[in-house]
Amino acid sequence: MNPPSLHVHLKLWIAGFINFTKQLKNMKNFIFHNPTQLVFGKGQIAKLSELLPDNVNLMITYGGGSVTKNGVYDQVKAALRGRNYVEFWGIEPNPQVETLRKAIHTGKLNNIDFLLAVGGGSVLDGTKLIAAGIISEADAWDIVLKGEAEKQIPFASVMTVPATGSEMNGGAVITRSETQEKFAFGGNYPVFSILDPEVTYSLSAHQIACGLADAYTHVLEQYLTTPGQSRLMDRWAEGVLLSVIEIAPQIKANPMNYDLMADYMLAATLALNDFIRMGITQDWATHQIGHELTALHGTTHGHSLAIVMPGTLRVLKDQKKDKLLQYGERIFGITEGTEKERVDKAIDMTEQFYRSLGLTTRLSEEGIGKETIEKVSSRFNDRGVAFGENRNVTGDVTSEILNSCL
Ligand code: NZQ
Ligand code: ZN
Repeated sequence: MNPPSLHVHLKLWIAGFINFTKQLKNMKNFIFHNPTQLVFGKGQIAKLSELLPDNVNLMITYGGGSVTKNGVYDQVKAALRGRNYVEFWGIEPNPQVETLRKAIHTGKLNNIDFLLAVGGGSVLDGTKLIAAGIISEADAWDIVLKGEAEKQIPFASVMTVPATGSEMNGGAVITRSETQEKFAFGGNYPVFSILDPEVTYSLSAHQIACGLADAYTHVLEQYLTTPGQSRLMDRWAEGVLLSVIEIAPQIKANPMNYDLMADYMLAATLALNDFIRMGITQDWATHQIGHELTALHGTTHGHSLAIVMPGTLRVLKDQKKDKLLQYGERIFGITEGTEKERVDKAIDMTEQFYRSLGLTTRLSEEGIGKETIEKVSSRFNDRGVAFGENRNVTGDVTSEILNSCL
Protein backbone atom coordinates (compact mmCIF):
# COMPACT_ATOMS: atom_id res chain seq x y z
CA MET A 1 0.00 0.00 0.00
CA ASN A 2 1.60 3.35 -1.01
CA PRO A 3 1.57 6.33 1.40
CA PRO A 4 -1.11 8.55 -0.30
CA SER A 5 -3.64 5.76 -0.39
CA LEU A 6 -2.89 4.93 3.24
CA HIS A 7 -3.51 8.57 4.04
CA VAL A 8 -6.83 8.59 2.19
CA HIS A 9 -7.73 5.32 3.83
CA LEU A 10 -7.00 6.70 7.26
CA LYS A 11 -9.03 9.85 6.59
CA LEU A 12 -11.98 7.81 5.45
CA TRP A 13 -11.68 5.54 8.45
CA ILE A 14 -11.54 8.54 10.84
CA ALA A 15 -14.53 10.18 9.14
CA GLY A 16 -16.41 6.92 9.35
CA PHE A 17 -15.48 6.48 13.00
CA ILE A 18 -16.56 10.04 13.88
CA ASN A 19 -19.82 9.48 12.08
CA PHE A 20 -20.29 6.19 13.86
CA THR A 21 -19.65 7.67 17.31
CA LYS A 22 -21.95 10.58 16.49
CA GLN A 23 -24.70 8.12 15.74
CA LEU A 24 -23.97 6.15 18.87
CA LYS A 25 -24.34 9.39 20.79
CA ASN A 26 -27.65 9.93 19.09
CA MET A 27 -29.10 6.70 20.34
CA LYS A 28 -30.32 7.16 23.88
CA ASN A 29 -29.70 4.76 26.73
CA PHE A 30 -32.72 2.62 27.49
CA ILE A 31 -33.99 -0.23 29.58
CA PHE A 32 -36.41 -2.51 27.81
CA HIS A 33 -38.76 -4.62 29.88
CA ASN A 34 -42.09 -5.74 28.54
CA PRO A 35 -43.47 -8.53 30.70
CA THR A 36 -46.83 -9.07 28.99
CA GLN A 37 -47.49 -12.60 27.84
CA LEU A 38 -49.19 -12.42 24.45
CA VAL A 39 -51.56 -15.30 23.74
CA PHE A 40 -52.47 -15.01 20.09
CA GLY A 41 -54.84 -16.86 17.80
CA LYS A 42 -58.11 -18.62 17.17
CA GLY A 43 -59.94 -20.01 20.16
CA GLN A 44 -57.40 -18.74 22.66
CA ILE A 45 -60.00 -17.26 25.02
CA ALA A 46 -60.50 -20.85 26.16
CA LYS A 47 -57.03 -20.63 27.75
CA LEU A 48 -58.30 -18.09 30.31
CA SER A 49 -58.67 -20.52 33.16
CA GLU A 50 -55.09 -21.77 32.87
CA LEU A 51 -53.69 -18.25 32.42
CA LEU A 52 -55.45 -16.76 35.43
CA PRO A 53 -53.83 -17.56 38.74
CA ASP A 54 -55.78 -19.78 41.14
CA ASN A 55 -57.16 -18.36 44.36
CA VAL A 56 -57.50 -14.77 43.23
CA ASN A 57 -60.51 -12.56 43.85
CA LEU A 58 -61.29 -11.76 40.27
CA MET A 59 -63.29 -8.90 38.81
CA ILE A 60 -64.02 -8.89 35.07
CA THR A 61 -64.59 -5.50 33.47
CA TYR A 62 -66.63 -4.89 30.35
CA GLY A 63 -67.80 -2.06 28.13
CA GLY A 64 -71.34 -1.46 26.96
CA GLY A 65 -72.24 -4.91 25.69
CA SER A 66 -70.56 -5.54 22.31
CA VAL A 67 -69.17 -8.76 23.83
CA THR A 68 -72.65 -10.18 24.31
CA LYS A 69 -73.37 -9.81 20.58
CA ASN A 70 -70.19 -11.29 19.14
CA GLY A 71 -69.82 -14.36 21.31
CA VAL A 72 -66.86 -13.11 23.36
CA TYR A 73 -68.88 -13.02 26.59
CA ASP A 74 -70.01 -16.61 26.10
CA GLN A 75 -66.44 -17.71 25.45
CA VAL A 76 -65.22 -16.00 28.63
CA LYS A 77 -68.03 -17.51 30.67
CA ALA A 78 -67.36 -20.97 29.29
CA ALA A 79 -63.64 -20.68 29.98
CA LEU A 80 -64.28 -19.62 33.60
CA ARG A 81 -67.00 -22.13 34.44
CA GLY A 82 -66.67 -23.15 38.07
CA ARG A 83 -64.81 -20.01 39.14
CA ASN A 84 -66.23 -17.21 41.27
CA TYR A 85 -65.86 -13.68 40.02
CA VAL A 86 -67.48 -10.26 40.06
CA GLU A 87 -68.50 -8.48 36.85
CA PHE A 88 -68.38 -4.73 36.31
CA TRP A 89 -70.18 -3.42 33.21
CA GLY A 90 -70.37 -0.05 31.54
CA ILE A 91 -66.87 1.27 30.93
CA GLU A 92 -67.55 3.62 28.04
CA PRO A 93 -65.40 4.53 25.00
CA ASN A 94 -62.90 7.15 26.24
CA PRO A 95 -63.34 5.76 29.75
CA GLN A 96 -64.66 8.22 32.27
CA VAL A 97 -63.22 8.61 35.72
CA GLU A 98 -66.75 9.03 37.08
CA THR A 99 -67.56 5.43 36.03
CA LEU A 100 -64.20 4.09 37.12
CA ARG A 101 -64.66 5.44 40.65
CA LYS A 102 -67.72 3.18 40.90
CA ALA A 103 -65.67 0.22 39.70
CA ILE A 104 -62.97 0.98 42.26
CA HIS A 105 -65.64 1.04 44.96
CA THR A 106 -67.01 -2.34 43.82
CA GLY A 107 -63.48 -3.72 43.72
CA LYS A 108 -62.70 -2.56 47.24
CA LEU A 109 -65.97 -3.96 48.61
CA ASN A 110 -65.17 -7.37 47.14
CA ASN A 111 -61.46 -7.46 48.06
CA ILE A 112 -60.59 -7.83 44.41
CA ASP A 113 -56.92 -8.62 43.80
CA PHE A 114 -56.92 -9.47 40.06
CA LEU A 115 -58.67 -7.74 37.16
CA LEU A 116 -59.53 -9.04 33.71
CA ALA A 117 -60.54 -6.47 31.09
CA VAL A 118 -62.66 -7.84 28.25
CA GLY A 119 -63.13 -5.25 25.52
CA GLY A 120 -61.33 -2.53 23.60
CA GLY A 121 -58.62 -0.11 24.65
CA SER A 122 -61.12 1.88 26.69
CA VAL A 123 -62.10 -1.05 28.89
CA LEU A 124 -58.47 -1.98 29.41
CA ASP A 125 -57.33 1.60 30.07
CA GLY A 126 -60.14 2.01 32.55
CA THR A 127 -59.11 -1.25 34.18
CA LYS A 128 -55.55 0.02 34.55
CA LEU A 129 -56.93 2.89 36.61
CA ILE A 130 -59.17 0.56 38.63
CA ALA A 131 -56.06 -1.54 39.32
CA ALA A 132 -54.37 1.51 40.80
CA GLY A 133 -57.44 2.87 42.60
CA ILE A 134 -58.26 -0.37 44.39
CA ILE A 135 -55.07 -0.22 46.44
CA SER A 136 -54.95 3.51 46.94
CA GLU A 137 -56.75 6.00 49.15
CA ALA A 138 -56.21 8.73 46.55
CA ASP A 139 -59.02 9.90 44.30
CA ALA A 140 -58.86 8.23 40.89
CA TRP A 141 -58.45 11.53 39.03
CA ASP A 142 -55.50 12.48 41.23
CA ILE A 143 -53.83 9.21 40.22
CA VAL A 144 -54.29 10.18 36.57
CA LEU A 145 -52.98 13.70 37.16
CA LYS A 146 -49.86 12.32 38.83
CA GLY A 147 -49.01 10.71 35.49
CA GLU A 148 -47.73 7.49 37.02
CA ALA A 149 -49.51 4.88 39.11
CA GLU A 150 -47.47 4.05 42.21
CA LYS A 151 -48.97 0.59 42.66
CA GLN A 152 -51.51 -1.51 40.83
CA ILE A 153 -53.04 -4.90 41.44
CA PRO A 154 -52.30 -7.29 38.56
CA PHE A 155 -54.55 -7.14 35.51
CA ALA A 156 -54.89 -8.93 32.18
CA SER A 157 -56.99 -8.57 29.06
CA VAL A 158 -58.99 -10.13 26.30
CA MET A 159 -58.51 -7.40 23.70
CA THR A 160 -61.33 -6.92 21.18
CA VAL A 161 -60.17 -3.83 19.23
CA PRO A 162 -56.79 -3.70 17.46
CA ALA A 163 -55.75 -0.06 17.83
CA THR A 164 -54.23 1.22 21.05
CA GLY A 165 -51.54 -1.32 21.91
CA SER A 166 -52.88 -1.08 25.48
CA GLU A 167 -52.85 -4.88 25.56
CA MET A 168 -49.05 -4.82 25.74
CA ASN A 169 -48.11 -1.45 27.17
CA GLY A 170 -48.21 0.43 30.45
CA GLY A 171 -50.25 3.44 29.31
CA ALA A 172 -53.86 4.43 29.86
CA VAL A 173 -55.88 7.46 28.83
CA ILE A 174 -58.76 8.61 31.02
CA THR A 175 -61.45 11.24 30.52
CA ARG A 176 -63.05 13.45 33.15
CA SER A 177 -66.33 14.31 31.51
CA GLU A 178 -67.37 17.10 33.90
CA THR A 179 -64.37 19.20 32.82
CA GLN A 180 -63.93 17.72 29.31
CA GLU A 181 -60.35 16.77 30.10
CA LYS A 182 -58.46 13.72 28.84
CA PHE A 183 -55.06 12.74 30.24
CA ALA A 184 -52.72 9.76 30.10
CA PHE A 185 -50.91 8.03 32.93
CA GLY A 186 -48.38 5.21 33.02
CA GLY A 187 -48.03 2.10 35.13
CA ASN A 188 -47.77 -1.65 34.95
CA TYR A 189 -48.29 -3.83 31.90
CA PRO A 190 -50.99 -6.48 31.57
CA VAL A 191 -49.87 -9.85 32.93
CA PHE A 192 -51.23 -11.44 29.78
CA SER A 193 -53.38 -10.42 26.84
CA ILE A 194 -55.40 -12.75 24.66
CA LEU A 195 -55.68 -11.65 21.03
CA ASP A 196 -58.03 -13.69 18.89
CA PRO A 197 -58.36 -12.07 15.44
CA GLU A 198 -61.80 -13.64 15.03
CA VAL A 199 -63.25 -11.29 17.65
CA THR A 200 -62.59 -8.38 15.28
CA TYR A 201 -65.12 -9.63 12.71
CA SER A 202 -67.88 -7.70 14.47
CA LEU A 203 -66.11 -4.33 14.26
CA SER A 204 -67.75 -1.71 12.04
CA ALA A 205 -65.93 -0.25 9.02
CA HIS A 206 -65.49 3.02 10.94
CA GLN A 207 -63.99 1.28 13.97
CA ILE A 208 -61.53 -0.55 11.73
CA ALA A 209 -60.58 2.68 9.95
CA CYS A 210 -59.97 4.37 13.30
CA GLY A 211 -57.98 1.39 14.59
CA LEU A 212 -55.74 1.33 11.52
CA ALA A 213 -55.27 5.11 11.73
CA ASP A 214 -54.36 4.82 15.42
CA ALA A 215 -51.78 2.08 14.82
CA TYR A 216 -50.27 3.92 11.84
CA THR A 217 -50.05 7.16 13.80
CA HIS A 218 -48.42 5.44 16.79
CA VAL A 219 -45.59 4.46 14.50
CA LEU A 220 -45.28 7.96 13.02
CA GLU A 221 -45.11 9.47 16.52
CA GLN A 222 -42.06 7.35 17.23
CA TYR A 223 -40.50 7.33 13.76
CA LEU A 224 -40.88 10.83 12.26
CA THR A 225 -38.48 12.49 14.65
CA THR A 226 -34.67 12.47 14.76
CA PRO A 227 -32.82 10.88 11.85
CA GLY A 228 -29.96 8.45 12.27
CA GLN A 229 -30.63 7.25 15.81
CA SER A 230 -31.19 3.61 15.00
CA ARG A 231 -31.34 1.84 11.68
CA LEU A 232 -33.01 -1.07 13.36
CA MET A 233 -35.82 0.97 14.93
CA ASP A 234 -36.33 2.76 11.58
CA ARG A 235 -36.64 -0.47 9.63
CA TRP A 236 -38.90 -2.03 12.22
CA ALA A 237 -41.18 1.00 12.23
CA GLU A 238 -41.20 1.06 8.41
CA GLY A 239 -42.15 -2.63 8.42
CA VAL A 240 -45.23 -1.88 10.50
CA LEU A 241 -46.17 1.12 8.32
CA LEU A 242 -45.80 -0.86 5.10
CA SER A 243 -47.83 -3.74 6.52
CA VAL A 244 -50.67 -1.44 7.56
CA ILE A 245 -50.68 0.25 4.13
CA GLU A 246 -50.74 -3.15 2.44
CA ILE A 247 -53.56 -4.68 4.46
CA ALA A 248 -55.80 -1.60 4.81
CA PRO A 249 -57.50 -1.76 1.38
CA GLN A 250 -57.72 -5.55 1.55
CA ILE A 251 -59.44 -5.41 4.94
CA LYS A 252 -61.93 -2.91 3.53
CA ALA A 253 -62.83 -5.44 0.86
CA ASN A 254 -62.73 -8.43 3.17
CA PRO A 255 -63.06 -7.63 6.88
CA MET A 256 -63.60 -11.24 7.84
CA ASN A 257 -60.39 -12.63 6.45
CA TYR A 258 -58.51 -14.26 9.31
CA ASP A 259 -54.98 -13.65 8.07
CA LEU A 260 -55.63 -10.01 7.28
CA MET A 261 -57.18 -9.40 10.68
CA ALA A 262 -54.32 -11.29 12.35
CA ASP A 263 -51.80 -8.98 10.66
CA TYR A 264 -53.88 -5.96 11.63
CA MET A 265 -54.13 -7.09 15.24
CA LEU A 266 -50.43 -7.80 15.63
CA ALA A 267 -49.46 -4.59 13.80
CA ALA A 268 -51.51 -2.58 16.30
CA THR A 269 -49.78 -4.31 19.20
CA LEU A 270 -46.28 -3.86 17.77
CA ALA A 271 -46.97 -0.22 17.01
CA LEU A 272 -47.17 0.64 20.69
CA ASN A 273 -45.56 -2.00 22.87
CA ASP A 274 -42.11 -0.36 23.24
CA PHE A 275 -40.46 -2.55 20.59
CA ILE A 276 -40.04 0.20 17.99
CA ARG A 277 -38.91 2.92 20.37
CA MET A 278 -35.75 1.58 21.95
CA GLY A 279 -33.27 4.41 22.37
CA ILE A 280 -35.02 6.91 20.13
CA THR A 281 -36.69 10.28 20.64
CA GLN A 282 -40.45 10.47 20.29
CA ASP A 283 -43.01 13.08 19.30
CA TRP A 284 -46.61 12.48 20.60
CA ALA A 285 -47.77 16.08 19.97
CA THR A 286 -50.45 14.82 17.57
CA HIS A 287 -51.85 12.57 20.28
CA GLN A 288 -51.94 15.36 22.83
CA ILE A 289 -53.84 17.60 20.41
CA GLY A 290 -56.09 14.72 19.31
CA HIS A 291 -57.03 14.01 22.94
CA GLU A 292 -58.30 17.58 23.22
CA LEU A 293 -60.51 17.16 20.14
CA THR A 294 -61.92 13.97 21.64
CA ALA A 295 -62.44 15.60 25.03
CA LEU A 296 -64.21 18.61 23.52
CA HIS A 297 -66.09 17.01 20.61
CA GLY A 298 -66.14 13.26 21.20
CA THR A 299 -64.14 12.65 18.00
CA THR A 300 -63.11 8.97 17.92
CA HIS A 301 -59.45 8.70 18.93
CA GLY A 302 -58.04 7.31 15.67
CA HIS A 303 -60.08 9.79 13.65
CA SER A 304 -58.71 12.74 15.63
CA LEU A 305 -55.19 11.61 14.72
CA ALA A 306 -56.05 11.37 11.00
CA ILE A 307 -57.03 15.02 11.16
CA VAL A 308 -54.14 16.31 13.29
CA MET A 309 -51.12 14.32 12.07
CA PRO A 310 -50.99 15.83 8.54
CA GLY A 311 -51.22 19.28 10.17
CA THR A 312 -48.38 18.53 12.58
CA LEU A 313 -46.25 17.46 9.64
CA ARG A 314 -47.15 20.53 7.58
CA VAL A 315 -46.16 22.90 10.39
CA LEU A 316 -43.04 21.02 11.53
CA LYS A 317 -41.80 19.92 8.11
CA ASP A 318 -38.50 21.81 8.36
CA GLN A 319 -37.64 20.25 11.69
CA LYS A 320 -38.69 16.81 10.44
CA LYS A 321 -37.29 17.21 6.91
CA ASP A 322 -34.65 14.48 6.91
CA LYS A 323 -36.96 11.88 8.38
CA LEU A 324 -39.79 12.92 6.05
CA LEU A 325 -37.50 12.41 3.06
CA GLN A 326 -36.59 8.94 4.29
CA TYR A 327 -40.25 8.14 5.02
CA GLY A 328 -41.35 9.41 1.60
CA GLU A 329 -38.80 7.29 -0.19
CA ARG A 330 -39.09 4.10 1.81
CA ILE A 331 -42.85 4.07 2.39
CA PHE A 332 -44.28 5.81 -0.69
CA GLY A 333 -41.40 5.43 -3.17
CA ILE A 334 -40.96 9.21 -3.58
CA THR A 335 -37.58 9.78 -5.22
CA GLU A 336 -38.18 12.58 -7.71
CA GLY A 337 -38.26 16.34 -7.28
CA THR A 338 -36.59 18.85 -5.00
CA GLU A 339 -36.37 18.15 -1.28
CA LYS A 340 -39.26 20.51 -0.66
CA GLU A 341 -41.40 18.78 -3.28
CA ARG A 342 -40.60 15.34 -1.87
CA VAL A 343 -41.39 16.42 1.69
CA ASP A 344 -44.70 17.97 0.61
CA LYS A 345 -45.59 14.86 -1.35
CA ALA A 346 -44.86 12.59 1.63
CA ILE A 347 -47.20 14.71 3.77
CA ASP A 348 -49.91 14.71 1.08
CA MET A 349 -49.65 10.95 0.70
CA THR A 350 -49.97 10.54 4.46
CA GLU A 351 -53.21 12.52 4.41
CA GLN A 352 -54.38 10.52 1.39
CA PHE A 353 -53.67 7.30 3.26
CA TYR A 354 -55.92 8.37 6.14
CA ARG A 355 -58.61 9.36 3.62
CA SER A 356 -58.26 6.01 1.87
CA LEU A 357 -59.28 4.39 5.16
CA GLY A 358 -62.59 6.23 4.89
CA LEU A 359 -61.84 9.01 7.38
CA THR A 360 -62.15 12.75 6.91
CA THR A 361 -58.93 14.65 7.54
CA ARG A 362 -60.09 18.23 8.00
CA LEU A 363 -61.66 19.92 11.01
CA SER A 364 -64.16 21.73 8.80
CA GLU A 365 -65.49 18.37 7.59
CA GLU A 366 -66.35 17.60 11.20
CA GLY A 367 -67.87 20.99 11.93
CA ILE A 368 -64.97 21.98 14.17
CA GLY A 369 -63.78 25.57 13.81
CA LYS A 370 -61.79 28.47 15.18
CA GLU A 371 -63.44 28.43 18.59
CA THR A 372 -62.03 24.98 19.34
CA ILE A 373 -58.60 25.94 18.02
CA GLU A 374 -58.61 28.91 20.38
CA LYS A 375 -59.70 26.72 23.27
CA VAL A 376 -57.07 23.99 22.74
CA SER A 377 -54.33 26.53 22.23
CA SER A 378 -55.18 28.48 25.38
CA ARG A 379 -55.51 25.25 27.39
CA PHE A 380 -51.95 24.32 26.39
CA ASN A 381 -50.67 27.82 27.09
CA ASP A 382 -52.38 27.84 30.50
CA ARG A 383 -50.88 24.45 31.33
CA GLY A 384 -47.48 25.70 30.20
CA VAL A 385 -46.90 22.54 28.17
CA ALA A 386 -44.72 21.99 25.11
CA PHE A 387 -44.89 18.70 23.25
CA GLY A 388 -42.97 16.95 20.49
CA GLU A 389 -39.45 15.60 20.15
CA ASN A 390 -38.02 19.11 20.52
CA ARG A 391 -40.52 20.24 23.14
CA ASN A 392 -41.57 23.13 20.93
CA VAL A 393 -45.23 22.35 20.28
CA THR A 394 -46.66 25.01 22.56
CA GLY A 395 -50.20 26.38 22.57
CA ASP A 396 -49.24 28.79 19.80
CA VAL A 397 -47.71 26.11 17.60
CA THR A 398 -50.77 23.96 18.27
CA SER A 399 -52.91 26.81 16.98
CA GLU A 400 -50.84 26.86 13.76
CA ILE A 401 -51.20 23.10 13.44
CA LEU A 402 -54.96 23.11 13.92
CA ASN A 403 -55.40 26.08 11.60
CA SER A 404 -53.63 24.10 8.91
CA CYS A 405 -56.19 21.33 9.47
CA LEU A 406 -59.24 23.51 8.79
O1 NZQ B 1 -68.29 -0.79 24.94
P1 NZQ B 1 -68.56 -1.92 24.03
O2 NZQ B 1 -70.00 -2.28 23.99
O3 NZQ B 1 -67.69 -3.10 24.27
O4 NZQ B 1 -68.29 -1.39 22.53
C1 NZQ B 1 -67.04 -0.92 22.10
C2 NZQ B 1 -66.99 0.59 21.99
O5 NZQ B 1 -68.26 1.11 21.76
C3 NZQ B 1 -66.85 -1.37 20.69
N1 NZQ B 1 -66.23 -2.68 20.54
C4 NZQ B 1 -65.18 -3.18 21.21
N2 NZQ B 1 -64.83 -4.38 20.68
C5 NZQ B 1 -65.70 -4.64 19.68
C6 NZQ B 1 -66.59 -3.56 19.58
N3 NZQ B 1 -67.59 -3.54 18.67
C7 NZQ B 1 -67.70 -4.59 17.84
N4 NZQ B 1 -66.85 -5.64 17.87
C8 NZQ B 1 -65.84 -5.71 18.77
N5 NZQ B 1 -64.97 -6.72 18.76
O6 NZQ B 1 -65.96 -0.41 20.14
C9 NZQ B 1 -66.20 0.85 20.74
C10 NZQ B 1 -64.88 1.58 20.95
O7 NZQ B 1 -64.05 0.87 21.80
P2 NZQ B 1 -62.77 1.55 22.45
O8 NZQ B 1 -62.29 0.60 23.48
O9 NZQ B 1 -63.06 2.94 22.87
O10 NZQ B 1 -61.74 1.62 21.22
P3 NZQ B 1 -60.18 1.64 21.22
O11 NZQ B 1 -59.64 0.29 21.46
O12 NZQ B 1 -59.81 2.32 20.00
O13 NZQ B 1 -59.76 2.53 22.50
C11 NZQ B 1 -59.76 3.92 22.46
C12 NZQ B 1 -59.26 4.50 23.77
O14 NZQ B 1 -57.90 4.15 24.01
C13 NZQ B 1 -57.11 5.33 24.22
C14 NZQ B 1 -57.87 6.36 23.43
O15 NZQ B 1 -57.53 7.66 23.82
C15 NZQ B 1 -59.31 6.02 23.76
O16 NZQ B 1 -59.67 6.53 25.02
N6 NZQ B 1 -55.71 5.08 23.86
C16 NZQ B 1 -55.02 4.28 24.66
C17 NZQ B 1 -53.67 4.06 24.48
C18 NZQ B 1 -52.89 3.19 25.37
N7 NZQ B 1 -53.48 2.65 26.41
O17 NZQ B 1 -51.72 2.98 25.15
C19 NZQ B 1 -52.93 4.72 23.40
C20 NZQ B 1 -53.81 5.29 22.35
O18 NZQ B 1 -53.06 6.28 21.67
C21 NZQ B 1 -55.09 5.84 22.82
O19 NZQ B 1 -54.94 7.17 23.28
ZN1 ZN C 1 -53.40 6.48 19.71
